[in-house]
Amino acid sequence: MLKRVGTDNCLDCPLGKIRDGEGTLVVKNWIVPDAEVCFHGLGPGKQEAENGTPFIGAAGKKLREAITKAGYDVDKVSFTNSVLCKPPNNKIDSTMTVPCLHHFKESLKLMPNLKIVALCGCDSYTAITGRKVTLKNVYLQPFTLPEYDVLFVPIPHPASILYRADAKNIAYFEDGVKGVFGLLDAQKRTTKEPKYALITSPEKLSIALGLIKEERVLSVDTETTSLKFYNANMICFALSWEDQTAVAIPWKWSQGGDLEYFWEQKEREEIRETFREVFSDTNKAVIAHNSKYDSLIFTKEFGFPISNIKVDTMLLSFHLDSNQPYGLDDVVLRECPEFAGYKQKFWEKVTTAEKDNGTWWKKYQLEEIMRYCAEDASLTYSIAKPMLRRLG
Ligand code: URA
Repeated sequence: MLKRVGTDNCLDCPLGKIRDGEGTLVVKNWIVPDAEVCFHGLGPGKQEAENGTPFIGAAGKKLREAITKAGYDVDKVSFTNSVLCKPPNNKIDSTMTVPCLHHFKESLKLMPNLKIVALCGCDSYTAITGRKVTLKNVYLQPFTLPEYDVLFVPIPHPASILYRADAKNIAYFEDGVKGVFGLLDAQKRTTKEPKYALITSPEKLSIALGLIKEERVLSVDTETTSLKFYNANMICFALSWEDQTAVAIPWKWSQGGDLEYFWEQKEREEIRETFREVFSDTNKAVIAHNSKYDSLIFTKEFGFPISNIKVDTMLLSFHLDSNQPYGLDDVVLRECPEFAGYKQKFWEKVTTAEKDNGTWWKKYQLEEIMRYCAEDASLTYSIAKPMLRRLG
């Protein structure tokens, strides 16, 4: 049964007096107790303040339409706001949001199944985190906060498409809403263990190479010590041919000391000959993200490029929207958020200096890097098809 959170005659912040003067209402948070997703806005507009219900005006209608378009039932989501009384000119600040925050916190307690709070617009982001941001820098980037047990996901505010109703801006907003439900699916999917085979013995190697030769469509990713290809050594590479499935093969490694080849001469030759065949077979289609880099790395390590790249997901992302960040993680979040979410912790322990000076890998075990690489290959495989479909 629907619950409402707020106080009828609230005077906790300066907006209370304004509301009293106007004779409008406190717009109590709209709480569906079973909700898994809650959309958190800035504050009520005119229609909301007259009626007492959040997100029922022009912007709210756009939000409800986008939720429906994403295939989700609007009656199953909750709607909350950073302030419960109408702010003049839609401007809010901390003298209003800080005293009002307890309504949001109380609301969360009434939703035991809540997984995601979608923060609509920068003001609601600031109200919750205390930080000012530009939306494009945080768009669909999920984050957690120590005092909350949910995932926060920033998306544009629906009013942004009233002010700028061009197709690109509308798609940006609607993709944001779609992304929220994609992340919800991803959270549910994380219980499924991905099948990443780490190839560390000659027996496993010959099975993996045999499988790779048979596949027609393969994605590939390399993990290297540095992003500058002239300084880079390949630690491992991975191939995928199915969602959440990949094999990762080590190449050069040393725990702490100078890098050495992982395999004996015989296995190295076997690997090279397999990929000489696989990467030149025009009946196969190879997919990569930033294929130029991977091809250069193979040229450097194996002596030949990947000649049969048919799809580069980084280039597809440029075709879809050249103004957006193009790293694999960004593209996954934007285009196929249902596949995101299970690898974000990897880079947390590495500093920018360690990335820049090419020593980041020393903090890891080989297996961890191989798993990461397998995941990137698998993500690249998984996003290619929906991106191609979107391009028509
Ligand atoms: N905008 C908001 O942020 N909240 C509402 O309730 C309506 C419009």
